[in-house]
Amino acid sequence: MRTETEHTIYLKDYAPSPYRIVSVDLDFRIGEEATRVRAQLTVEPRPETAPGTPLVLDGEELSLSSIAIDGAPLMLSAYAAGPQGLTIVEPPLRRFVLETEVSLQPEGNTKLMGLYRSNGVWCTQCEPEGFRRITYYLDRPDALATFKVTMTAPLALAPVLLANGNLVAKGDAGDGRHFAVWEDPFPKPAYLFALVAGDLGSITDSFTTASGRKVDLAIYCEHGKEDQCDWAMDSLKRSMAWDERRFGREYDLDMFNIVAVSDFNFGAMENKGLNIFNDRLVFAKPETATDANYAGIERVIAHEYFHNWTGNRITCRDWFQLCLKEGLTVYRDQEFSSDERSRAVQRIHDVQNLRSAQFPEDGGPLAHAPRPDQYREINNFYTTTVYEKGAEIVRMLATLLGEADFRKGMDLYFERHDGEATTIEAFLTVFADATGVDLEQFKTWYLQAGTPQVTVKDAYDAASQTYTLTISQKTEPTPGQPTKSPLVIPIKFGLIGPNGSPMGWNAVTGGSVRDDMIVLDQESVTLTFSGVANKPVPSLFRGFSAPVQVHSDLTQEDNLFLARHDSDPFNRWEALQDVSTALMVDAARGKAWGNAAIEALRSALAETLANDSLDDAFKAQALTIPDESLIARAIGSDVDPERVHAVRSELIRAVFAPIASTLEAAYHGLTSTVPYAPDTAQSGRRSLRNRLLSLLVQSSDGGAALAAKQYGEATNMTDRLAALAVIGAQWTPEAPALLADFRTRFAGDPLVFDKWLTVSASAHDDGVIERMRAILADPSFPRNNPNRLRSLVGTFVMGNPVQFTRADGAGFRFVTEFVTDVDTRNPQVAARVLTGFRIWPLLEPKRREAARSALTALQAAGSLSRNSADILTRMLA
Ligand code: PHE
Ligand code: ZN
Repeated sequence: MRTETEHTIYLKDYAPSPYRIVSVDLDFRIGEEATRVRAQLTVEPRPETAPGTPLVLDGEELSLSSIAIDGAPLMLSAYAAGPQGLTIVEPPLRRFVLETEVSLQPEGNTKLMGLYRSNGVWCTQCEPEGFRRITYYLDRPDALATFKVTMTAPLALAPVLLANGNLVAKGDAGDGRHFAVWEDPFPKPAYLFALVAGDLGSITDSFTTASGRKVDLAIYCEHGKEDQCDWAMDSLKRSMAWDERRFGREYDLDMFNIVAVSDFNFGAMENKGLNIFNDRLVFAKPETATDANYAGIERVIAHEYFHNWTGNRITCRDWFQLCLKEGLTVYRDQEFSSDERSRAVQRIHDVQNLRSAQFPEDGGPLAHAPRPDQYREINNFYTTTVYEKGAEIVRMLATLLGEADFRKGMDLYFERHDGEATTIEAFLTVFADATGVDLEQFKTWYLQAGTPQVTVKDAYDAASQTYTLTISQKTEPTPGQPTKSPLVIPIKFGLIGPNGSPMGWNAVTGGSVRDDMIVLDQESVTLTFSGVANKPVPSLFRGFSAPVQVHSDLTQEDNLFLARHDSDPFNRWEALQDVSTALMVDAARGKAWGNAAIEALRSALAETLANDSLDDAFKAQALTIPDESLIARAIGSDVDPERVHAVRSELIRAVFAPIASTLEAAYHGLTSTVPYAPDTAQSGRRSLRNRLLSLLVQSSDGGAALAAKQYGEATNMTDRLAALAVIGAQWTPEAPALLADFRTRFAGDPLVFDKWLTVSASAHDDGVIERMRAILADPSFPRNNPNRLRSLVGTFVMGNPVQFTRADGAGFRFVTEFVTDVDTRNPQVAARVLTGFRIWPLLEPKRREAARSALTALQAAGSLSRNSADILTRMLA
């Protein structure tokens, strides 16, 4: 393997640069052949910088055509330009202007980092280390400077010229070219730089901030798609209002622009005043976007907007601190969605996502701390651990401190660190300072990898009317972290009496209990509650108050009791999940379930469906049987995904077949003829109806016909795709014809093509790999577009365990061949697909061996990118 993988960056080596860049003046001459970038950097040594200290700038794939300091060209001996950057051997020990000119080839940039072209539009992506592909620079997040950007481009190809900040001048540049000048008054790191030049349509609007400033808003997109941007604009305005209400944060520039592009490695990017979005997170209309798409757009528009304060005004000192901006901003977008929609449903949704994506990462070969202390390739740390576990940590902080004190801490954070590049420590210190709470031990959450396992035992003594709860925590070793220390775990809880009502107690001894919260901060604690009149059923971790895995000795009866009586909707949902998980784990281990157990689950679910006091979206979640990856986790080792799949299908049939007519009646009762709106009530209703449809297809003979009928009659994409997805996954006889219809019906819409690819990759039948090979081999397949590639192969690795982990190894080989091919053009996409292998150590021996041999063959072939080589090395360690 290439030696690049040996280059490791350590947090302990952090040191500020000996030089500061005060301001940047960039001049882009955009042309079809090449783009020329002239940069004038005003540089200053730090007071402590010793004479003769070289200035080392990052730079990649640049070709330097001129270089000068204060207007005087440099002699060859005064600098060295190499593949990693530019060194000025002995810069002046005073403020000076370094001027360089380089040229770039955006057209051939398939990595989609730096300046590239998507659908003819010039655009940039700089986080984390893309700016060095634009000009020589201190490409690190603690280098803050003000930017002035001048750009000229052919008017016919690029009538729209955008950059960060405010537009200060524009005009004709002669020769069929025009220019624009943008200035961003807020000092920022280079990763927040952005530029867009192209022929784009737009919609505009405005927002008046709490202090009465009018901000011009615009969303730019491909011509003809303007009518699909309204929901994104609406989401933006609601986000701006919410951040003022909830966190007192106002927008700070005169304009806020969003651009939708078709080729983008991630979801979206928070560049100051110029957010760039993957177009799948902007475009929506009822015929082609689902309710889930609408919710995703709302969430990501909010997320990127919220970064303006948590990320841009206050940024990260180094990339080890990524969680500082991402965990906090995900927490903020989750709170926004909870306030805009239903809090309980949002929480369940976020926890499902955490469990199916983050827990597997944290329990496998790629486990890492939310704040890692070393990396080889920073792009590989934009993970669900940094984002979603990071958000859980902030949520626990809010839970431990209480809402008012949490807000006090946030206010102090904005006041103290505005304009800085800072650290996780500084973030925690503001909360300690604002509230007097010691957060030293709490910090361990950021430093330690792995999902804590919490074990609960309880006992009731009727004679003394005492109830005891023994709660212990343990975190298993993870790569590079053999020993773990105890974490501070907030446990929101209640005790429920035999009649289903909350129970009180007189006193508690043995541990820390504040109102409805136990704080576990040792390895183990035994709490004794006195004055407890009857044996209670405990409801623990209400609202999923900590990202842990709980092992309790609650019986199936206890869980069914909680499902009926718990006042906490999350735990009601959770109790039902636990009941079906336990049944499936038993069955996978060869222990058949009894009729009584199935009947009890069936009646609890039927009762939930019939309960008028619950909303539809909640019912849909309650009627969801845990997915295969959760069952596999619960089994823990030697997993056979085919068996897991079979057991899950059997449970669905056993529970639902006898009540198929009830489900069908409920399904028809939820039919609606009102015009489509993406609102909470309507989308909840659709989600329940489509959940019932899915259960019917899986448990009754008439289900597939019903789905085919829904597919044909649907008036919106949510209903059409739900029907197609369940038929496609089951690969019923209707599947090929419906897929063919779907493809032609929406021919020409790339985002609907993605849906077709997703359904195609999800089929459980043995033909799926051959069909995917044919799709990829089609010369018209857009082989460099990340959305297309991920919809097909990303879905396959993450969402089709039966076929991906086939015992004959065909699924593994399909993926490693794909990685080998794509890695040469877009290493980020390749590396991300490769992470799907993280489940391999959990598999039964035959599949484990097949995975290992596919991975070692990939390693033996050599010459992978640093991105993929890093993942592969950790995967096989
Ligand atoms: N910072 C972006 C976000 O989470 C994610 C991103 C990272 C986008 C790297 C592009 C490149 O909002
Ligand atoms: Zn983010």
